[in-house]
Amino acid sequence: MPDLPAAFRLDGRTALVTGVGAGIGLATARLLAEAGARLVLCARQAERVHAWARELSADGAEVVAAPGDVGRAEDLRSVLATAEAAFGQVDIVYNNAHANPAWSGQQALAHGHARTELPDKGPLDYSAEDWQAAFDVNVLAPYRLAQALVPHMKQRGRGVIITALSGAAFRPTLPVVPYGTTKAALHMLTRYLAKACAPEVRVNAVCPASISPDGTPWEAHRAHLPAIPLGRLGRPDEVAAAVLYLASDASSYSSGEVLFVDGGRVSTA
Ligand SMILES: NC(=O)c1ccc[n+]([C@@H]2O[C@H](COP(=O)([O-])OP(=O)(O)OC[C@H]3O[C@@H](n4cnc5c(N)ncnc54)[C@H](OP(=O)(O)O)[C@@H]3O)[C@@H](O)[C@H]2O)c1
Repeated sequence: MPDLPAAFRLDGRTALVTGVGAGIGLATARLLAEAGARLVLCARQAERVHAWARELSADGAEVVAAPGDVGRAEDLRSVLATAEAAFGQVDIVYNNAHANPAWSGQQALAHGHARTELPDKGPLDYSAEDWQAAFDVNVLAPYRLAQALVPHMKQRGRGVIITALSGAAFRPTLPVVPYGTTKAALHMLTRYLAKACAPEVRVNAVCPASISPDGTPWEAHRAHLPAIPLGRLGRPDEVAAAVLYLASDASSYSSGEVLFVDGGRVSTA
């Protein structure tokens, strides 16, 4: 991307993108690579992560595949070891992976976030295991990554952490109770980290909502369109652009912020 203004370029920086298996994560990895970043790609399905790494690498990116489940401490250690071996450091973390126990097992794998059907759980049907799974991925994983990486970022005098929130963190969106509640906790973690890790490390959130893989509405969400002032669903590349802004020096005076990419939905509700 040669025409990108200098403040948006990421040359010489290494970005770890979690949940890169599809949608927003993949679009973001592509854009950060176009902006010059070296990439560490993480998601659970190893074959897919290696395939994306090969594809991005063929496009000229410096990239390493680091498959793993961010909800597991040992996997996170291995992801960081792979990043360290390949590039020596991580300068940017985009915590894109998420867990939403409203959908489970094969359903979740088949549909990703942009599901075609409503979940099969009622709002009071969640187990302690569901809550734990949501907490481990949505809150504890970003915390563990920060714990491991911030001391090095501070030593180098520079680092960026970006979390991915959801409209469900700001208004009850039944029935996704553990997902929305843990995303709200992630919002507060973002603000705590922004305060604690400054001035060397900036910590911000992007808040996507109503994003579909190609921007066209899927059946279950047509009813939401009237609540979106911009009158359409969003696309993954529109979230990726917001992440690039937050990852780069273009946002150098912002920390603890939330950048909504939701067609105006949350702010005008
Ligand atoms: N799309 C939207 O409308 C929307 C709305 C609000 C918020 N968001 C937020 O935006 C982010 C991306 O959403 P998306 O819709 O693009 O997600 P998605 O399509 O569901 O993709 C998420 C990717 O994360 C990977 N992943 C899931 N659990 C993981 C784990 N434990 N460890 C590592 N990787 C994991 C999955 O790949 P594997 O199966 O290979 O692991 C999957 O490809 C999420 O944080 C989500 O909460 C999205």
